[in-house]
Amino acid sequence: MKFMQTDKKKIRILFVCLGNICRSPAAEGIMKKFVDKNELQDIIEVDSAGTSGWHEGDLPDERMRAHGDARGYDFSSKARKFRKNDFDLFDYIIVMDDSNYKNVKSLANDNEQVSKIRMMTDFLVQNTHHNYIPDPYYGDSSGFELVLDLLEDANEGLLQAIKKKYSL
Ligand code: 4NP
Repeated sequence: MKFMQTDKKKIRILFVCLGNICRSPAAEGIMKKFVDKNELQDIIEVDSAGTSGWHEGDLPDERMRAHGDARGYDFSSKARKFRKNDFDLFDYIIVMDDSNYKNVKSLANDNEQVSKIRMMTDFLVQNTHHNYIPDPYYGDSSGFELVLDLLEDANEGLLQAIKKKYSL
């Protein structure tokens, strides 16, 4: 039962923020670690992108990498811009805030593609009073810690939802 999904196509998750150097690569790195811990790496694939191409090819922000490192994560994916064909490649397109939602939605072809877009905060289990993941770029270290707290919480919820949906 556990590996039922291996015969079918993989479940693919894309995390999206503005720059793809703070929130979404952190969400990607955290989810990858959770997927490995649950031995689901043959079933679930994770990636991230930005609605802007401002940091294309860059590693995640040094501050985000350092805060992640302190919690045992490796944030090392290179930034890329969200593309229209990501709607065909991914099952879940998880955005961090309303602006990301609006920008990604504007590239969707139809309602089926729109239905793939979800707010990261929809999956929070503990910190349910947050309705977006705040951009930490212009703030201090407390902003990075808050982002990591929220991303860990929401990724736990997202993984539980996926495990339930696909009987994993
Ligand atoms: P992110 O944060 O969307 O979480 O990657 C930002 C990174 C860079 C900029 C803004 C937000 N920027 O203005 O360059």
